[in-house]
Amino acid sequence: MNLLKRLAIDGGTPVRRTFLPYGRQKILPEDVREVTRVLRSSWITTGPKISEFENVVAKSVGARHAVAFSSGTAALHGAVFAAGLGPGDEAITSPLTFCATANCLLYQGATPVFADVEPDTLTLDPKAVNQVVTRRTKAILPVDYAGHPADLDVLLRLAKRHGLVVIEDACHALGARYHQRPVGGISHMTVFSFHPVKHITTGEGGLVATNDSHLAGRLRRFRSHGINIDAHARRQKGDWIYDMMDLGYNYRLTDMACALGISQMRRLTNNLKRRREIADHYAYDLSGMPGLSLPSVRQDVDPAWHLYPIRLDLDRIRGGRKAVFRALWAEGIGVNVHYIPVYFHSYYRKRFGDRRGLCPVAEEAYERLISLPMSHAMTLYDARDVSRAVRKVMAAYVR
Ligand SMILES: Cc1ncc(COP(=O)(O)O)c(C=O)c1O
Repeated sequence: MNLLKRLAIDGGTPVRRTFLPYGRQKILPEDVREVTRVLRSSWITTGPKISEFENVVAKSVGARHAVAFSSGTAALHGAVFAAGLGPGDEAITSPLTFCATANCLLYQGATPVFADVEPDTLTLDPKAVNQVVTRRTKAILPVDYAGHPADLDVLLRLAKRHGLVVIEDACHALGARYHQRPVGGISHMTVFSFHPVKHITTGEGGLVATNDSHLAGRLRRFRSHGINIDAHARRQKGDWIYDMMDLGYNYRLTDMACALGISQMRRLTNNLKRRREIADHYAYDLSGMPGLSLPSVRQDVDPAWHLYPIRLDLDRIRGGRKAVFRALWAEGIGVNVHYIPVYFHSYYRKRFGDRRGLCPVAEEAYERLISLPMSHAMTLYDARDVSRAVRKVMAAYVR
């Protein structure tokens, strides 16, 4: 067989010589300049860049308040605290997410209750949520999986009926739009992450957006030891008095990170555009290919394309997902799997018992999912390499 046709895993020539990771950051000289400027100033943390960054993000996502945190995980923890959840309380969330979405409930002594996802978008199914609401339920934590917003209007109506807080995990969805509104000003609190694989980065970093000034005050205190006034504000007031009102943490984001975030936010629109171009390319090049199906997009939704998760038709693939995954890696394509259902992890099994079968839609999807590379650092040539490699691998494995 011709070396170009033979799979790299079987000794053929790989589609790419340089490995393409599933996601990565893009740092430009102007980012370096902004960070350096802060490094040369007198405030490298808890200074003026924090509120500047928060204002830029709040405006972009259509929220009245934004509170920056040292990570998306810390921001989720802050949101659970601000919502007042504690021991004995339950919150309903999706199992098809990064474990931080559920862990943040455990940090506060609350219990995550997993409800199944919708078969098309793999976001929290409002009907499944409705079935597990109890007297102890205090919050719903939908996840905007892969950048596609959950069905927020329906979930918010359900939350209102039961008096629940909606904490939206939008760590995948900065810049997404739902029914003509940006994600960020819709739920009671919306959480973003600025990890390097996300739409913009601050290295590590996160943020909670909210329209509620009371929640914003609680969030601000929580990220800095529960103290009512930060060091920069104290300096400006010329005062030493502060009060620790709640038990908080040091979850502050530095001014260096915020300077990087401000600079990156100037390119958010371009970053989203590139991600959409890549999604369009995959949809065009891979649609109708035997053995796989592409992610669906609901009407009146504009996803932020953090991930591009395809689903394999396992009945038609020799060797199953593992064979396809390994073959794509050998071709130089850094695919990944998002996500192992949270309650499959050994910590959750030890603590809550074996819950296999609890959310059949999420579990069946997990077996079939593969995320293709998706990042604004990719070129359209990179995207073409991905679809070429998928075609090559599927031609070899589909029965
Ligand atoms: C859905 C989801 N929630 C929460 C997080 C946690 O964010 P961070 O890594 O910024 O702590 C992530 C991170 O990838 C995520 O994908």
